[in-house]
Amino acid sequence: MAEIAPSVLNADFSRAGEWLPQLEKAGAEWIHWDIMDNKFVPNSGVEMKWIPELRKKTGILFDCHLMVEKPETYFKKLGEFGADLITFHVEAAKKPEETIRQIRKSGLKVGIAINNETAAEKIFPFLGMADIALVMGVQAGFGGQSFNPKALEKIALLKKKSEKEKLGCKIQVDGGINLETGKQCTMAGADVLVAGSFVFKSKNMEETILELKRL
Ligand code: DX5
Ligand code: ZN
Repeated sequence: MAEIAPSVLNADFSRAGEWLPQLEKAGAEWIHWDIMDNKFVPNSGVEMKWIPELRKKTGILFDCHLMVEKPETYFKKLGEFGADLITFHVEAAKKPEETIRQIRKSGLKVGIAINNETAAEKIFPFLGMADIALVMGVQAGFGGQSFNPKALEKIALLKKKSEKEKLGCKIQVDGGINLETGKQCTMAGADVLVAGSFVFKSKNMEETILELKRL
């Protein structure tokens, strides 16, 4: 059973009253918030004001994926907004250990991400300090792209290391996830599937999440 993190990057927040109960009913474990600065990636991501708005309405874990050049400037605010976990990109951090410590200091869980071109080994040293390792299935920045199968090997390497050394770090995959690629990822060792378009463009979001959970 995979944990599911619907990405609200392209969600219509004026209709959150319709989709949020569907995510809850299907038992989605996380809501994945894509935060961008138009620098680390050429896009602007979700409007952060929706985080505290939705926090009032649901207890689902809020997973904030920072695709920004200066992740450390977001931690305090995200904590106040009700985030549960913050994931930063290793490509954006000069001293990842320090970044991890700062997130912990804000009382939040920690994720460390690798973009499509980054090797899994790059985050090996930090797995023991993180709750989640995020492997991008696409180049970070936009929803609706096709999954790059190169991610599968990285998922497998990270999972193997986490299990062998009992590091307790879950493996999350983000980008291009549908039933087919989702299955490949869980087979490779992914614990958490992030899915944006596949969930939000489906006719029945609740059923789609239930199907993904069964992978
Ligand atoms: C892309 C974001 C993803 C995105 C996934 O950079 O990190 O979370 O929303 O969207 P899909 O599932 O459509 O690839
Ligand atoms: Zn994301």
